[in-house]
Amino acid sequence: MQFDVAIIGGGAAGLFCAAEAGKRGRSVIVLEKAEKVGKKILISGGGRCNFTNVFTAPANFISQNPHFCKSALARFTPQDFIKLIEKHSIEYYEKKLGQLFCRDTSRRIVQMLEDECLAASVKIRTNCTVKSIKKNATGFELETSHSKFECQSLVIATGGLSFPKVGATDFGLNLARQFGLDIVAPRPALVPLVFTDLKGFGELAGISLEVTANFAETDFRENILFTHRGLSGPAVLQISNYWQAGKAVSFNLLPDKDARDLLLEHRSSRQELVNFLGQRLPTRFADKFCALFAPSKPLNQLSNQEIERIAVSLNAWQVKFHQTEGWHKAEVMMGGVSTDELSSKTMEVKRVKGLYFIGEVVDVTGWLGGYNFQWAWASAYAAANAV
Ligand code: FDA
Repeated sequence: MQFDVAIIGGGAAGLFCAAEAGKRGRSVIVLEKAEKVGKKILISGGGRCNFTNVFTAPANFISQNPHFCKSALARFTPQDFIKLIEKHSIEYYEKKLGQLFCRDTSRRIVQMLEDECLAASVKIRTNCTVKSIKKNATGFELETSHSKFECQSLVIATGGLSFPKVGATDFGLNLARQFGLDIVAPRPALVPLVFTDLKGFGELAGISLEVTANFAETDFRENILFTHRGLSGPAVLQISNYWQAGKAVSFNLLPDKDARDLLLEHRSSRQELVNFLGQRLPTRFADKFCALFAPSKPLNQLSNQEIERIAVSLNAWQVKFHQTEGWHKAEVMMGGVSTDELSSKTMEVKRVKGLYFIGEVVDVTGWLGGYNFQWAWASAYAAANAV
């Protein structure tokens, strides 16, 4: 069977690329290994798919080449995707910080992509395993569990390694290796972190508080959430993209206050430190904090030295993490096919004509908040207009 374009992977990037290429009159087939397409979209955003972020900018992405994403992001913007959502009458809302979610369910996004594919006469084959890929003079030959396919352009949209339970595979990375392409070492990202020394914090599991998390030059003001082994919550997921093993993350537990000034303002108070902190932080956290860092006593009995020490612990709590919670808890993969190998305009492999990589398999990773889907749409659109 012959097609102009074969796309491996029926996720966010693959389906969108298929529909857009189909609209250009290209004959397109999507080969999906799972029994249905778009499984990650379905579970995304807690079932409501945070499908884009209105503030998307290149600075929200991490890559060995921070300039690579600029061209694609400029040519397909959040507004372009919103227009598509509105065309399909999908209701959405901004949750916070420019993050757009479906009001109803993520299913609407998958349905929209399937409808767009149908309208563009795209063929979709599920339960399809690709056994081998060979380059020939005019394109590629694919041997699959269904049949043999030939295509001029081959798009790899098999996603990253995170969440293996919904079908993540290393197919894209292995294919890149088969063609001798450089790969930036993959690692779990947007992922909870595990304390080096638990210090009994596990008993706080479920407690959340708003902080500013800082690593090197990067800050995120969001919530952290205690888990049985470490920390999660948006602030930690965001900082996990920057965290380096062996180095501490700093948390400002009172992001609106200089803790030293606050303690000095209440210097004449007879209130116990633990109660004072309990009015500003979750009580159980305040108890634990005092047990570990500042045995409670009335504020008017704190020495200057104690005030300094407590203030530093509150405004810059240094926490060491021993590892991440790994692929099964990571939302995305950092690293992937090196952007040095790809054209930033079309996503085509510079050394292999007709071969394209799009979406998460490429070394471009977005922050939490709809940025990863925006990259999937934008990189797919770039390839769709070239295949
Ligand atoms: P995606 O993973 O969507 O698709 C890859 C497809 O390829 C899958 O259908 C897979 O089955 C298929 N495949 C894999 N190997 C194959 C093979 N060998 N042969 C054929 N097919 C194969 N992002 C965001 O912006 N907002 C959000 O709300 C969320 N929420 C979220 C929640 C959770 C729990 C996770 C795990 C991830 C998110 N993300 C997110 C990230 C987002 O889901 C992700 O970045 C995009 O889905 C990436 O799109 P891709 O198309 O590149 O991969």
